[in-house]
Amino acid sequence: MGRYVILMGPPGAGKGTQSVRVARDEGLCRISTGDLLRAALDAGTPLGQQAESYMKAGELVPDDLMLGLVDEELDRKTCSDGAVFDGFPRTVQQAQGLGRLLEKRGAAIDQVMVIEVPEGEIVRRLSGRRVCESCEKLYHLSFGPPRQEGRCDACGGELKQRPDDQPETVRRRLAVYSEETQPVIDYYQRDASTSLAGVTMIDGDDSIEDVASAIRDRLSHVEAER
Ligand code: AP5
Ligand code: MG
Repeated sequence: MGRYVILMGPPGAGKGTQSVRVARDEGLCRISTGDLLRAALDAGTPLGQQAESYMKAGELVPDDLMLGLVDEELDRKTCSDGAVFDGFPRTVQQAQGLGRLLEKRGAAIDQVMVIEVPEGEIVRRLSGRRVCESCEKLYHLSFGPPRQEGRCDACGGELKQRPDDQPETVRRRLAVYSEETQPVIDYYQRDASTSLAGVTMIDGDDSIEDVASAIRDRLSHVEAER
């Protein structure tokens, strides 16, 4: 049975930055609902059209759409060694739904990690974030700039600012996180199922490398206990 890991945390905590590394280092597939929704939006699919107004406003896309998307993604990718979820689940209903989606595949969540970052740092990170339009590689104007201004080091694509990184939308995303997503942490903390090795708080207010190493340490600890 594969390993299923959830990376949670507020907007800008570093879920995208770290989940790419976890997937690569642990051989897991990465399921980032934000990236999947942005791809659907760019491709103009019905899902993208339904999600657009919510994303622009910093609100959550309805749970049934999200669970349908993740169900398809779990089928589409082989994910035979498991998956790391980035930005999902974001509501208690999504967490319960994910439990059912994994159960019908004979799997369950092993580990939940919450990357914690203070609000001032979040604002700094999101205002400086740039994303490659072609390959989605992440940059930060101060903390991880590209070699050539405005161009992706990996593929030469153009670097863009995400539309929902405007200050007003960031404030709304933060409020939505504390109203709708914080309760998911309590949900997993109360979860008495045997597979879940627990909920670990990761100090995200550290360098990208140090955060990566804290996550790696935790995962190897969980693996050793399995
Ligand atoms: P989503 O794309 O998931 O956005 P988010 O949760 O707000 O998180 P971000 O992607 O903004 O931040 P991140 O934690 O990935 O940080 P990153 O690594 O980029 O969702 C967007 C929208 O889609 C939602 O608002 C909603 O509408 C919808 N949606 C998505 N999933 C949904 C769901 N399950 N249900 C309903 N709706 C859903 O890092 C940020 C920046 O900081 C980067 O520039 C990076 O280079 C830099 N950085 C990272 N780590 C460090 C560090 N340690 N030190 C310095 N800089 C760092
Ligand atoms: Mg992200």
